[in-house]
Amino acid sequence: MSASVTLVLTAEQIDQYHSDGFLVMADFASADACDRLRARANEIVAAWEPGEERSVFTTNEQERVSNGEFLTSGSSTWCFFEEEAFDDTGSLRQAKELSINKIGHAQHDTDDEFRQFAYNPDLGAVARDLGMTDPRALQSMYIFKQPRIGGEVSVHQDATFLWTDPLSVIGFWFALEDATIDNGCLWAVPGTHRGPLRQLFKRNRLDDPAASDGTIFDELSDEPLPAPDSPDAVALEVKAGTMIALHGLLPHWSNPNRSALSRHAYSLHCIDGTADYPAWNWLQRPADMPLNAL
Ligand code: FE2
Repeated sequence: MSASVTLVLTAEQIDQYHSDGFLVMADFASADACDRLRARANEIVAAWEPGEERSVFTTNEQERVSNGEFLTSGSSTWCFFEEEAFDDTGSLRQAKELSINKIGHAQHDTDDEFRQFAYNPDLGAVARDLGMTDPRALQSMYIFKQPRIGGEVSVHQDATFLWTDPLSVIGFWFALEDATIDNGCLWAVPGTHRGPLRQLFKRNRLDDPAASDGTIFDELSDEPLPAPDSPDAVALEVKAGTMIALHGLLPHWSNPNRSALSRHAYSLHCIDGTADYPAWNWLQRPADMPLNAL
């Protein structure tokens, strides 16, 4: 019998993360763990009955839908449709199972299978090696990147959407299927996490954030984000099971999926429990649902 091994990053990996703003770790999640999460996501979608008010996840940040589901999804688990899921008559263009953009945003605390995947001791060890003192799981996104209609995610910095003082958010992105240029893998320009935070996404009632019915962008810097056609852009083509840790200031994006293959991924955004998380952040937990430690 072999002793259990606690995963700790090498000095080279830690340097790589700080120099590039991201770190790619192949074979982080087992094939079995990926298969189980995909199966569970498919079950959640199969059981999902869209209400009258359909939540569409619009990936262009300027047009992000800020409806009630979105603002309360920090403590619940919702299915959000692809922007191109519906035709002009309001009917789904393809089966419901092939029309959901993502499941979010609290399934790591509401669903056993997601809980098991997210609260993996190896992930806590990585978070601490990357500089977190008290890593806490804040936001889950199961992203389907559906065949043919999988929407783009425009260039953004995660700290725009999940701000702490001091800045601490790290995105842990897991490929559950092979991610390629064809099916919409992640892209980034190494080192651009050293640029400023460009925008903050806030609830629109700064006097009483809990009473907000929408969101606003605060412009912090007009330094342009890297363009998707930048010659320095790197396609993060990875195999299923790979985990990519993304610094909260690293601009990153993914292109639409026009291929016949889906590109399922799970992303868990973590913040440091020692940092302040302002009440104007769009995503909030009720007082009886505190963030759990990794
Ligand atoms: Fe992101």
